[in-house]
Amino acid sequence: MTSFFFREIGEYEMDVNSLTIAKEGNNILDYHHRAREYFAEDVNGPRNILFMVRKRVIMLQDVETILLDKDVLAKRVHELGEEISNDFAGEEVLLVGILKGASVFLSDLIRQISLPAYIDYMVVSSYGNSAETSGVVRIVKDLEDNIEGKNIIIVEDIIDTGLTLAYLKQNLFNRHPKSLKICTLLDKPARRKKEITIDYKGFEVPDEFIIGYGIDYAEKYRNLPFVGLLKREVYDK
Ligand code: IMP
Ligand code: MG
Repeated sequence: MTSFFFREIGEYEMDVNSLTIAKEGNNILDYHHRAREYFAEDVNGPRNILFMVRKRVIMLQDVETILLDKDVLAKRVHELGEEISNDFAGEEVLLVGILKGASVFLSDLIRQISLPAYIDYMVVSSYGNSAETSGVVRIVKDLEDNIEGKNIIIVEDIIDTGLTLAYLKQNLFNRHPKSLKICTLLDKPARRKKEITIDYKGFEVPDEFIIGYGIDYAEKYRNLPFVGLLKREVYDK
């Protein structure tokens, strides 16, 4: 089952990339047809795979463009891990992931860090189900442990207005860590309201609605293995 899954994603994505999805035809029957061509000879049961492909296609239909594919993401995450490992050589780090969006990034990042590394999570209120930030930040779930004297790296999926991070940074700073850094996979500087120093940054992205690799719209699309743009018609409804 697992090997199916990966093969399906891998091959299907290649197909999707080469088709520049959503721009041409964007027709679910067309995708089915192509999927059938790919998998028709699979001895393990094309019907099973088609079912998975169909679910995936429905998500893919909402994607405008793929911005960062999984190889580009993996390479950059590796570089960030190395950078952190060098900067903190001989020490330990505690990654503080901001749920839920940062969970995918954090899981990949921590495996690229060659130091004793620990994980904790916070939940803060953010966009809710709309595409606009409310500016209201509330801690829904706090850290489990005291961070005094520790090297803290806040791990975020995407920084937009900066309101969430500005608040969090001050909040964690008041707990007297040894050091406090910010690591974000994506930076959307166009709409920044609070100046914020980003110590480790994966990529800059345009002022569009981003999904995938942990990042959601109304809780959907977190499982896309790439970072993409959500079609405007999906959130302008
Ligand atoms: P900020 O406080 O405006 O910087 O918002 C940060 C949070 O808003 C991020 O951690 C995301 O959860 C969410 N967010 C910002 N931009 C996007 C986006 O383009 N897609 C999905 N979520 C976003
Ligand atoms: Mg977030």
